[in-house]
This record gives sequence, C-alpha cells and structure tokens, in this order.
Amino acid sequence: MNYEEIMLRAISEAEKYKYTAKPNPVVGAILLKNEEIISEGYHKNYGKNHAEINAIINANRQKNKKFNDFSELTLICTLEPCSHIGKTGSCAHAIVKTGIKKVIIGSIDPNPKVSGKGIQILKENNVQVDVGIHKDLVAKQNKFFFYRHINNKPYITVKIASSLDGKSHYENHERVFVTGDKARLDVQLLRAKYDAILTGTNTLLNDNPRMNARVNFPVNQPEKILMSTSFSFGANTSEMPFFEGKRVTHFQHNDIDCVIPIMLENDKCSILIEAGPKLTNAFLKTNYVDELIIYKSQKKLGKTGISWFKEDNAVENYGFKLESSYKIGTDLKEIYKKDEEK
Ligand SMILES: NC(=O)c1ccc[n+]([C@@H]2O[C@H](COP(=O)([O-])OP(=O)(O)OC[C@H]3O[C@@H](n4cnc5c(N)ncnc54)[C@H](OP(=O)(O)O)[C@@H]3O)[C@@H](O)[C@H]2O)c1
Repeated sequence: MNYEEIMLRAISEAEKYKYTAKPNPVVGAILLKNEEIISEGYHKNYGKNHAEINAIINANRQKNKKFNDFSELTLICTLEPCSHIGKTGSCAHAIVKTGIKKVIIGSIDPNPKVSGKGIQILKENNVQVDVGIHKDLVAKQNKFFFYRHINNKPYITVKIASSLDGKSHYENHERVFVTGDKARLDVQLLRAKYDAILTGTNTLLNDNPRMNARVNFPVNQPEKILMSTSFSFGANTSEMPFFEGKRVTHFQHNDIDCVIPIMLENDKCSILIEAGPKLTNAFLKTNYVDELIIYKSQKKLGKTGISWFKEDNAVENYGFKLESSYKIGTDLKEIYKKDEEK
C-alpha cells in the first residue's frame, strides 16, 4: 500500500468515531514499517487519547517483534499532531520522544493554537514532515471543526418542522406532531451530529422536550442551551426531561450576539437551533445562521395554526437559497444555505 492508500484508510477508519469524538475532530494515525502496517490509533472519545498516542501505544506491543526501534517507522496521520498541552499531552512532543523520523500529515490543523506549530516541533527535532495528502477529505470529514476555526464562530443550523400551510403549532398549544415518524427519526440523527442544541422559553414550557439524540449508537450527547429571561430553576425543574443528562447552559437574556462568543469559548463547533417561530426568526434575522432545514409535512394546521414566517420574511428574504430537497417518508426535507456559500 502507498501513502495515499494508507491515508485513505486512516480517514475512513477515523470516521467511525465522528459521534463520540465531537466537538473534537476525528483523527486517524497509522504506523508503518516499509509497506507493512505495524499499528493504528484513532481519537475515539472526546477528552481521551489522541490518535497518534493510541498508535504509539499499540506499536509498543509489537516492539521487538515486528520492529526494533521507532526510527524504523513512518507515521501517517490525518491531521497535524497537536502542539499544545490540552486535556491530553502534546502529540508532537510524544512523537519526537519515540524517535520516529518521518511523519506524513493529511491536513494542517486549522486551530490557531496548533496550526503549523505541531509541524514546527517535529521539524525542529529533525523529523521529516510531508503535508497535504487528501487534505480536502480531512477538512470535509471535520466540517464543523474546520468551519469554527476558519470563521471564528460555530456552524449554526436552524431546524423547523412546518405544515403544508407554513405553520409551526396550534395557537392553543395543543400537542401536534407536524411531521411523520421517519422525519422525526431523521431529526434524532441530525441532533447526534451537533455539539449543542438551543431553544427558548415557550418551546421548553409548552412541549417539555428532551432534546437529546435518541439513536442506537454511542454519541457524545449535544449540550443543551436555553435562552430565557422568564424561566427560573424551581422544584419542578428536576422533573423536566430537558434538564436530564448533559449540563444545560441557561442564558438569562435575549441577546444572541452574546451567546455566540460564549459558545465558541466553550468549544462548540456546531449549534442546532430548535425553537418556535419567535426565537427562530430572531436567529434568522442575524447573520449567524449558516443552514436552515425545513421538514415539510403534507398536513395543514389551518387558521388556528401559528405561521413560521410572515409573508415579508420568507426564507429567501433572509438570504437563503434552496440547496437540496428530498422525501423522507411522507414529508419533504428541504436544506437551505446562505446564498454566498453556494
Ligand atoms: N414545529 C416545530 O418544529 C417546532 C419546534 C419548536 C417549537 N415549536 C412550537 O413553538 C411553540 C413556541 O413558539 P414561540 O415562538 O412562542 O416560542 P419560542 O421561540 O420557543 O420561545 C420564545 C421565547 O424565547 C425567549 N427568547 C430568548 N431570546 C430570544 C430572542 N432573541 N428572541 C425571541 N425570543 C427569545 C423569550 O422568552 P423570555 O421572555 O423568557 O426571555 C421568548 O418569549 C411551542 O409551543 C412549540 O410547540 C414548534
């Protein structure tokens, strides 16, 4: 196998951990002696060992069997080894310490804390470094991570379920499933991809939602964010499923401009907004939203339904263009992106 093939293997194996490594990027690392794979390592869980460290640990088990000294090995890793001491040690220093003499990197890390610095540590310690094999694939598989560091903001998606006549819910808040089972299942998968889910007072109080990702595979569950001035924690709060599991961040103000930088500081690369028409429209009016997903049902809610959009603030007027549209069960999933991104 050549380096390109090995890089592709590391990228595709790393992909298996995209729901558990987030908000960290998925990373794969493979140690080779000539053409033979000696060991592999992946960043499997957020806060746990990085891929390079796992590859080194696994290689140590083969030492004096398949190889004698790390200087015989070449390390292939999908993303630049980190230079900073975060939750785990610096991978660049760990690589140097083993005596590995050649490292092939897919993409430079877009995180300014690391970008180029990991490579510098390796080069300063006489490690030969090559960069760029399948760098676009590495960026693509870590879309939210790259987006966050390049744009200095989380990737923000607004998701709504709409009736055929453009309504969100009934004015008397009678519980209604706007969309069918398959679309609701798709929402669970969508939630699993995001680092946080954000909602507002009325959705919390009227729907009493869980807002977690109910999927049949392991997930680092999205954190929950509540924007509400009127809600206060009381005796009933502990019985509300929204407050079960992951920590809830409660912003006791309505200022979206303040929420975004705090989420960035909290390592959130992606946020899914799941709220009613008031908070949804407030977000769409800002320049923060990158994507809008509408699950559109065949069902009408009629005159007593509350509209998502007033006539003059249709999605197109917010600067969104339809990118794709396909059927999910009986419903339609429409994905809109900001015009300039197309
Ligand atoms: N069909 C769907 O996909 C879907 C999804 C979610 C919800 N819903 C429905 O939507 C209904 C609620 O909709 P809604 O529009 O009345 O409420 P909402 O958007 O869920 O919440 C609005 C509240 O959020 C708080 N808020 C915080 N920051 C805000 C900001 N910048 N702009 C606006 N509000 C902000 C305010 O409460 P404070 O005054 O406390 O600050 C505001 O009254 C629910 O009954 C639910 O059934 C439908």
